[in-house]
Amino acid sequence: MAVAVILALLVAVLTPLAVYLAGRTRSASPSPRRGLPPGSLGLPLVGQSLGLLRAMRRNTAERWLQDRIDRYGPVSKLSLFGAPTVFVAGPAANKVVFLSEALAPKQPRSLATIIGRRNVLELVGDDHRRVRGALMQFLRPDMLRRCVGKIDGEVRRHLADRWAGERAVTVLPLMKTLTFDIVATILFGLDRGGIREQLAAAFADMLEGIWSVPLDLPFTAFRRSLRASARARRLLAATVREKKASLEHGRSFPSDDLISYLVSLRHGDGDGGRPLLTEEEIIDNSIVSLTAGHDTSATLMTFMIRHLANDPTTLAAMAQEHDEIGRSKDGGEALTWEDVARMKLTWRVAQETLRMVPPVFGSFRRALDDVDLDGYRIPRGWQVFWAPCVTHMDPAIYHEPIKFEPSRFDSQAAAPPPPPYSFVAFGGGPRICPGMELARVETLVTMHYLVRHFRWRLCRGEKDDTFVRDPLPSPANGLPVELDHVAPLLPVRGDS
Ligand code: HEM
Repeated sequence: MAVAVILALLVAVLTPLAVYLAGRTRSASPSPRRGLPPGSLGLPLVGQSLGLLRAMRRNTAERWLQDRIDRYGPVSKLSLFGAPTVFVAGPAANKVVFLSEALAPKQPRSLATIIGRRNVLELVGDDHRRVRGALMQFLRPDMLRRCVGKIDGEVRRHLADRWAGERAVTVLPLMKTLTFDIVATILFGLDRGGIREQLAAAFADMLEGIWSVPLDLPFTAFRRSLRASARARRLLAATVREKKASLEHGRSFPSDDLISYLVSLRHGDGDGGRPLLTEEEIIDNSIVSLTAGHDTSATLMTFMIRHLANDPTTLAAMAQEHDEIGRSKDGGEALTWEDVARMKLTWRVAQETLRMVPPVFGSFRRALDDVDLDGYRIPRGWQVFWAPCVTHMDPAIYHEPIKFEPSRFDSQAAAPPPPPYSFVAFGGGPRICPGMELARVETLVTMHYLVRHFRWRLCRGEKDDTFVRDPLPSPANGLPVELDHVAPLLPVRGDS
C-alpha cells in the first residue's frame, strides 16, 4: 500500500511540473507587493513528498509538520507530490483556506476517476452549491431525527451478531462493517442481504485502488478498482431505478433515504420540474458519501474505544450518562433523537478524540488566482495543504494539548472557547463536512450500546498510544480487545 501510495502520488502529479517550474521562476523574482512564504521547494518532483509519506507510516507526521512550523512559522512553502505547495496551520490560515473562493479543492486523479467526475469534491461554483445543497437537505438534523431508530437497529443487530458471546474482537474492521451498514441503510435504503452484500464487496474492492497509480492496465490495482467501481455503479443505478418506481407508485417517500430524496428533487417552477440532479450525479454522490462517510466514523469510534480502555474514570462517567438514558428502555425500545441529545459527555469525548486523532489528516486546494495569506503570496496554480492535527495540538490554543480533557468542549465551562477555526476535524466554511450530524448520531448510538453492554481491555502486548496513517489513522493490528459482557442486548423490536 505504501509503495502504491508513493507511486500514485508521484505519477498523478507529474502534470504540475510545468506549474512547479513556473513557480520557481516566479519565486526567483517575487512580487513587489508580497513575497512567497519561507521554506524550500526541494528537488523537482520529489520535493518533500517522501519525507512526509515516511512520517505518515511511522506515526510521526504531526512531528514532521510541527518541525516545519518551528522552523518557518505557520505558513511555509515546500513541494509535495510534484507541485509547489504552501502548507498552512492555525486558525487564521485555516479560515482563508476554507473561505477563499480563489482556492478550489484538489483530489488525486485516481480518486475522481474511480468515484466519478460529478462527485461533490470535484464540483465548484453553482454546481457545488446545487449538489451540496441537495445532500445537506437530507443530512440536516430535522431529517436525521427520523433515522435514529434505523441507526439504533443497525447498531444492535451488529453487536448481537459480531460482539455478543465473543471473548475478543478486533475493533477497526468491525466498526467499518457497522458504519458501512449504517450508510447503506440511511443513505441508500438497502436492507440486509441482496444488493447490500454485493455493494459491500464491490466497494471493498474499489477502495483497494482508490489511492493507487492511475494506470488503467491489466493487473494494476487501479484497473481492479475501476472494475469494482463499475460494479458498484450498476448496483446503485438499479437502486435508483427501483426507488423512482416505488416513489411513482406511492410505495415509498422521499424522506425514506438519501437516494429517494435526491431523485425526487426538482428545479424551481420556472424550469419545468427538471430533476435537480442527473442520475450520474446521484450515483457519484452516493459513492462519495459512502467513501467519505464510513472509514472516518469507524476511525473515530475505534479511537474512542481505545481511549476508554485506558481511562476508567471517563468510562464510568459515560456509563452513568448512558444508564440514565437506557433505564427507560427496558422493553428494548429504540433510542430517540431526544435521547441522543442527552449524550453530552459522550459527544465531548468524541470531540476530544477527534481533536487528538483527526481521521482526515489534511487535504489540498489549488489556487485559481494569486491568494494573499498572512501577508504572503500564494501564486496561481500552486497547491495549498492544510492539516487539522497541528492546529489541534497548538498549546497557545489548547492548554496542555497532549492531555485528554473532554471538558475543553463543554460549552458551559468557565474557560473562554478557542477562536473560530481551531477545531477543524470536520473542515470549515462552504465545504465543511455535510455528514457531521450523521457521524455524531451514529457514534453516540454505538457508544450507548457498547458502554451499556460491554467492558473491554486492550489485548496483551498491544501498544496503546500509537497508530499509522494508512492514510486514515489505524491502531496496531486494528485494535484487538478482550471483552466482558455486562448485560445482555435486548433484541430489536420486530426482529424475530
Ligand atoms: C467522524 C467522521 C467524519 C469526519 C472526521 C469527516 C471529515 C471531513 C472533512 C475534514 C471534510 C472537509 C475536507 C476538505 O475541506 O477538504 C469532509 C468533507 C466531506 N464529508 Fe466528511 N467526515 C466525517 C463523516 C462523514 C459522513 C458520515 C459523511 C456522509 C455523508 C461525509 C461526507 C462528506 C462529504 C460528501 C464531504 C465533501 C463536502 C464538500 O466538498 O462540499 N463525511 N469530511
